[in-house]
Amino acid sequence: MKKFKRYLITSALPYANGPIHIGHLAGVYVPSDIYTRYLRLKGEDVISICGSDEHGVPITLKARKEGITPQQVVDRYHEMNKKAFEDFGIAFDIYSRTTNKIHYETASEFFLKLYNKGEFIEKTSLQYYDTEAGCFLADRYIIGECPHCHNENAYGDQCEKCGSSLSPSDLINPRSAISGSQPVLKETLHWYLPLDKYEPWLKKWILEEHTEWKPNVYGQCKSWLDQGLQPRAVSRDLDWGVPVPLKNASGKVLYVWFDAPIGYISATKELTPEWEKYWKDPETRLIHFIGKDNIVFHCIIFPVMLKAEGSFILPDNVPANEFLNLENDKISTSRNWAVWLHEYLEEFPGKQDVLRYTLCANAPETKDNDFTWKDFQARNNNELVAILGNFINRTLVLTNNYFSGRVPEPGILNNPDKEVLDEISRLTKATGEAIENFRFREGLKEAMNLARLGNKYLADTEPWKLIKTDPDRVKTIINISLQITANLSIILEPFLPFSMKRLREWINLSNFTWNDAGKTELLPPGHQVSKGGLLFEKIDDETINRQIEKLMKTRRENETVSAAASPLKEPVSYEDFSRMDIRTATVLEAERVPKTNKLLKLKIDCGTDIRTIVSGIAEYYEPETLVGKQILIIANLEPRKIKGIESRGMILMAEEPGGKLVLVSPVEKTDNGSVVK
Ligand code: MF3
Ligand code: ZN
Repeated sequence: MKKFKRYLITSALPYANGPIHIGHLAGVYVPSDIYTRYLRLKGEDVISICGSDEHGVPITLKARKEGITPQQVVDRYHEMNKKAFEDFGIAFDIYSRTTNKIHYETASEFFLKLYNKGEFIEKTSLQYYDTEAGCFLADRYIIGECPHCHNENAYGDQCEKCGSSLSPSDLINPRSAISGSQPVLKETLHWYLPLDKYEPWLKKWILEEHTEWKPNVYGQCKSWLDQGLQPRAVSRDLDWGVPVPLKNASGKVLYVWFDAPIGYISATKELTPEWEKYWKDPETRLIHFIGKDNIVFHCIIFPVMLKAEGSFILPDNVPANEFLNLENDKISTSRNWAVWLHEYLEEFPGKQDVLRYTLCANAPETKDNDFTWKDFQARNNNELVAILGNFINRTLVLTNNYFSGRVPEPGILNNPDKEVLDEISRLTKATGEAIENFRFREGLKEAMNLARLGNKYLADTEPWKLIKTDPDRVKTIINISLQITANLSIILEPFLPFSMKRLREWINLSNFTWNDAGKTELLPPGHQVSKGGLLFEKIDDETINRQIEKLMKTRRENETVSAAASPLKEPVSYEDFSRMDIRTATVLEAERVPKTNKLLKLKIDCGTDIRTIVSGIAEYYEPETLVGKQILIIANLEPRKIKGIESRGMILMAEEPGGKLVLVSPVEKTDNGSVVK
C-alpha cells in the first residue's frame, strides 16, 4: 500500500435542521473518531474536519413552518450539535459551518474557477414556478404523487416512501409546498456540471483503481456508472444559499450539494494556514466518512468537481456505512423515532463510552443494523462490566492487596505465560489492522478479546489461591495481568476514550503511542499504580424500561397524529363549496336492500320533499335504530340508480381512520330542510 505523509479526515457535515441521533453516530461520527484517534495515537499528521451543513431546502422549509428565519434555525442546531459532539468525545479539529464568510468566499471562488475554465454547461430549462408565492419551486418545495409507489407526498428530489430519487418533472399532479397551488412551468437559467464528460475517467478511477473500496460503496458507484451519468445542475432558484457569483444570476444560489462538500475545504482553511498542504499534496490521504445516502455525492459528484478544478487531491477511500435502525423501525427525525444524542448525554451522564461501545460493536458496516435498548444493556452489563471492568478491577485490587500497588518483578515464564504474551502481541496487532481497514467492529472485538484473555488467565492461574503457597508465581501472574491492562488502555483508547483516560491515570501511564501496543514491559517493576475503581457499572432494568417506555410513547403519539392526519385535499373556493346544497333531514323509514351487506334504503324527510336515499351504512347501523334520527344530506347530488333503486342525494358521514362510518347530525334539533353553510 502507498505510504502517505499525512491524513485529512472528513465526516459528513450534518444538516443544521435537527439534533444528532444514534444513526448519525453509528454511521459516520463514531467510526471517523475511532480512525482519527488511532492515527493520532500512531503519531501521524492528521486533521479531522466537520461542521454544519446550513443550506438546502429542508432548512428553509423548517424555518417557514416555525415562523423564524433560516439563520435562526441553523444557529440553534449548529450550537446544539457542536456541543453534543464535544461532550460525546468526538474529537474534530474543527467544527465549522457553511454560513461562515470564509465558506461563502471559498465556494464562490471554486464555482468561478470552474466557470472560467468553461467546465459548466449553461442552459435554460422549464421549471415549476409558484405564481401565488412568486418563486421557483426547487427540490422539496414541490410535492406530488410518486410515479413508482403512488405516495401522494413525494418530494421533487426524492420519494421518502419508496426511496426513489426523483426530479420535479417525474411527479404526478405536482403542487407547491408553499401555497399548495398548482405550479406552472417557466424558463430559468442554470449551470450544469457535465458528469457524463467525466464518465470514462470515473470508471477508470473507481472501478479499476479503487477495487479496495467497501463492497457497498463500490457497488453503488458501479451501478451509477453503469446507468450512465447526466449533466447535473449546480444552481437553484432560491434565496437561501451561496449566491451564484455571476452578473446574470440574481435570485440564484449554489445547489446545497455543490457548496456543502466545499465546506470541508473552507473548514480546513479556517483551521490552519497550511490548508493547502492537506488538500493539494498527493502525499495526503483524504478519507470521507459518510452514510450510504451520501455515496454518489462523495464518490462521483465531488470528485468530478475536484478533478475539474484541477489543483486538489481526490479521496483515497470513502468508507460509507449502511443505516442503523432503532427497535426495528427506521430512524426518523420527523416521527421523533430516534435516540437523540443531547438527551442521551443528559440521561446517562458519564456514560459516553457505553454508547460508543454499543454503536461500534453493532455498527452497520456491511448491512443495516438494529439498535435496541436491551442490547445496549446487555453489552454494558455482560461485556463492559463483566469482562473489561471486571478484569481491570481484579488486577488493580490484587496488585494493591499483595504488592502495595507496585508492579511486581516477573519470575521465570512457563508456557501458558508465554502464550499469553504472544496473544498480547497478536491481538493488539489485529486491532490496529482492523482499524486501518475500516473494520471497526472487528477491531473492537479483537481488543475485547484481550480483556477476555486476561480474565481467563486469572481464572486459570488463580493467584488468590497461590499467594500463600507460591508468592513468586503470583508476582509473574500479576505482572502479566498489569501488562495486559496497560495494553488495553492503549488499544481501547480510540473506542472508549473517557474510560481509558481514567484507566491510564490509575495505572499512571503517560507518554505512550500506539506503537507501544504489544509490548510486555509497559509498566516496569516497581512502577506505582492505584487501586482504581469501577470503570463501568451495571445498568438496571428500570433505566432501560424508562427508555423503552419513552419510545412507546412516541409510537402512540405518532399513531394518533398519522391516523388523524389523512392529508388535506386541494383547496377549493367558497364558490365551489356553496354550490353544494347540504341540509338537515330526518329518517322516516329504514330497511336493508335485499342481497347486499352494506346498503340501507332510507325514506327521508328533507323539508322540501320526502325522498329515497340509498346509503352504505348497513355494517354500522341497524335499520330500526335510525328511524327518527336527524342527519345531514347533500340534497342536490345528481340522482343515481343503486341496485335498481333511485337514490336522490347522499347522507353525510364521518369516516374514521380505521374506515368506520359514523352518521353526522346537527348538535340541536333543527327544522328539516335547513341549509348548512
Ligand atoms: N448534510 C448532508 C447530510 O446530512 C451531508 C453533507 S456532506 C457534505 O446528508 F459533503 F456535503 F458536506
Ligand atoms: Zn415512491
